Amino acid sequence: MVTAEATGLTLDNLNITDTDLYVEHGYPWEAWDLLRREAPVFWYQRARFEPFWAITKHADIRFISSHPDLFSNTQILRMNDHESIGIGERTREVNANRYGGHPSDPPDFIFMDPPEHRQHRGLVARHFTPRMMKRLEDHFGEMSEDYVSAFAEKVVADFAERADRSAVDVVHELSAKLPVAAICDMGGVPEEDWDQIFHWTEASAGAADPEFRLPGEDREQTIRRVNLEFNLYNEGLVRERQEHGLRDDLLSDLLNAEIDGEPLTPREISAYFRLLIGAGNETTRNSITGGIKALLDHPDQLDDLVAHPELVPSAVEEILRWTSIVIQFQRTAMQDIELRGKTIRKGDSIVMWYPSANRDEEVFPDPYRFDIRREPNDHFAFGGYGEHFCLGANLARWEMRAIFHAMLPVLPQLELAGEPQMVPSSLHVGGIKRQLVRHRPR
Ligand code: HEM
Repeated sequence: MVTAEATGLTLDNLNITDTDLYVEHGYPWEAWDLLRREAPVFWYQRARFEPFWAITKHADIRFISSHPDLFSNTQILRMNDHESIGIGERTREVNANRYGGHPSDPPDFIFMDPPEHRQHRGLVARHFTPRMMKRLEDHFGEMSEDYVSAFAEKVVADFAERADRSAVDVVHELSAKLPVAAICDMGGVPEEDWDQIFHWTEASAGAADPEFRLPGEDREQTIRRVNLEFNLYNEGLVRERQEHGLRDDLLSDLLNAEIDGEPLTPREISAYFRLLIGAGNETTRNSITGGIKALLDHPDQLDDLVAHPELVPSAVEEILRWTSIVIQFQRTAMQDIELRGKTIRKGDSIVMWYPSANRDEEVFPDPYRFDIRREPNDHFAFGGYGEHFCLGANLARWEMRAIFHAMLPVLPQLELAGEPQMVPSSLHVGGIKRQLVRHRPR
């Protein structure tokens, strides 16, 4: 591993916010290591960003996550550069014009604090319990088998007829499939629209990349177009339920829901549904791709897994820790607070860097070792176990278990064909745009 001493990295010159560096070099592990070691509560000031406290230790992230009374979600949710913040604010205005309400209203329940947050989150929580996932287990297993065999067909079976061992993109041919299918199925989105939904979530997350834009569009125009198309689509689904009756799906639950005796507004329904459909796609897709890469990079771990399929759940936890796909979430201090001898002032921004917590030597022995038998594995891939802990954590876990289980016979026949190509400009999710793999004859 490269150390901070070897790279000349110091607290003054380290950079954990430059997305170009993420694309070129991957996550800034050495910078986070240095911060944990020397300045775990660090006032970070760099051009193009509002200053914030960078929090990099596992224990501090747990503390902040479990004190929504001290650290609020209502003001700003993710560390972003000034340009992205501006785009977000203007998109809120567009949505307020369309649906009513004020642009400063919380766009969805991640932006709420208790007790309001719990009321909203609770409306659909029953769909995401381990019990519910157990009921869906066979269904996910069957879908995974289908997706994996179509993928294997492309990579392996066709190979005999190909002269060039041409590579296949695992992101689009495999990882993207189940996350979209599972949540759309639960949401009541017709199957013929799943590809379109995937396309919208991919384009809004990757709008900084010209590849996802229509000719002549800039980043903001792409985001606005996708926002509008997605809203119109949701409105159509709502109309269909209103005309033909509710069903047993997430959207119908939202249409049926009441808070303090009042139904949700059209804006709340649309935002809620978009959150549910969007939150799990990119995250789970990238975790699957990152997991495939991790296993192919560590053949001893892959051999162990293939020999012991009962290790799939534990391997999935290690993949979640290893890939740490969500990079950061932000909070705002509600009062002056002392943390590790630093005074955080009321109104200051705090940014929790989850991948750093997932390499904290105080919690994970030998944190840079990929170990599918790691136990305990108290990772923060889904957040720091607080008020906002990932609602879809069980869904993501069950999906990943199903996919990696179905992949066991296929993985040993694959090899990576190059490094992952990253989505530019995401400081929130470590997006992998493309990862080529090819058949490896034994
Ligand atoms: C591997 C896949 C996933 C990862 C790594 C992930 C990660 C996260 C993280 C880090 C948070 C913030 C936690 C916090 O602030 O304490 C979060 C929140 C959330 N996630 Fe996920 N997520 C994944 C999949 C999903 C899926 C499949 C859904 C589907 C519904 C989902 C829905 C949500 C929602 C609704 C929230 C907001 C919860 C709240 O504010 O109460 N996520 N997720």
